[in-house]
Amino acid sequence: MADSHLNAKEYVCNSQHVSFVWGLPKAELHLHIEGTLEPELKLKLAARNHIDLPESNIEDIRASYKFSDLPSFLAVYYKGMECLIHEEDFYDLAWEYLKRAKANNVRHVEMFFDPQAHTSRGIAFSTVIEGLLRAIEDAKALGVDARLVMCFLRDFSAESARQTIEAALPYKDNIIGVGLDSDEHNNPPMKFFNIFARARELGWHVTAHADVDQVDSISHIKELLEVIESERIDHGTNLVEDSDLVSYASAQHTGLTSCPISNSFCSGGDMKTKEVRELLNSGVQVCINSDDPAYFGGYVSDNIWAFAEHEHASIETLALLCKNSFKMSWISDVQKELWCQEVDDFVAAFSQAQ
Ligand code: HPA
Ligand code: ZN
Repeated sequence: MADSHLNAKEYVCNSQHVSFVWGLPKAELHLHIEGTLEPELKLKLAARNHIDLPESNIEDIRASYKFSDLPSFLAVYYKGMECLIHEEDFYDLAWEYLKRAKANNVRHVEMFFDPQAHTSRGIAFSTVIEGLLRAIEDAKALGVDARLVMCFLRDFSAESARQTIEAALPYKDNIIGVGLDSDEHNNPPMKFFNIFARARELGWHVTAHADVDQVDSISHIKELLEVIESERIDHGTNLVEDSDLVSYASAQHTGLTSCPISNSFCSGGDMKTKEVRELLNSGVQVCINSDDPAYFGGYVSDNIWAFAEHEHASIETLALLCKNSFKMSWISDVQKELWCQEVDDFVAAFSQAQ
């Protein structure tokens, strides 16, 4: 068998390794559906909904994506959503992503959506979710299993989050869990303690963002681990700075969903792949995801590729990351086993062909 260590130089030169990364069966657990709005669809929706965009072509839209931290990204992200108005728009948004998921061999996705970013613009909750659910139904024919994770905007009030739960009640069984995103500064997880408790009463799973290099990253991670008892932490790699918390996360099996390319935009060019490597070595479950791929320019396989290049990762490490994505997901243990076996079978077939 050839050396399975993927040296970076070999890696970028070897098209077989491209097909290996893209072909690995994987789950995506940190994907904001609104962050998949590609410029092509933005132009199409703007024309369909008679919205005047400041930019009239794809290049100008891409050129307007200037961000260097979380707040500057969020400003562009929320502005982009103004094109999403009708149920059909949400359908098109999700359907375009799900086709890309298929091309990345994503077998299962737990996709975030931000209802308050739409209801605060006068769009009904039902308009948003009905469009997304229809695309999710159609994606079954692609062999992509998709579920919804409803995110609360942490820069909105806890009362607004409570009202969002009320609006979601008719769709309780169409939602697998809740998350927490948007601007983290001065918006600790504890602000939503009662909201998370209510979500649990309703049978929903719980995850929350602890974005990279925030002013209070460590105290927010500590609250999520020790008080909220979040099942996953989205981003969260600052965990590595506190060895007690690393041991805690490892013992509790709290998984981190890391997004290397997004990190490079929001953290001064640092993809935080070293931190991911260190956390994996300490026994913390981590998987690789794309976050907001239309804005950061990379879907999940691009992110795994970026990790592999930066860390000279072996085939075994990449397979571990993909198995983690299934193990950290909120599907049945039986289904987790089946998909992890698919990863093993895929790696065995690839290694045999070398
Ligand atoms: N962090 C916080 N809020 C977000 C993100 C993120 O990565 N993506 C979309 N909203
Ligand atoms: Zn995110």
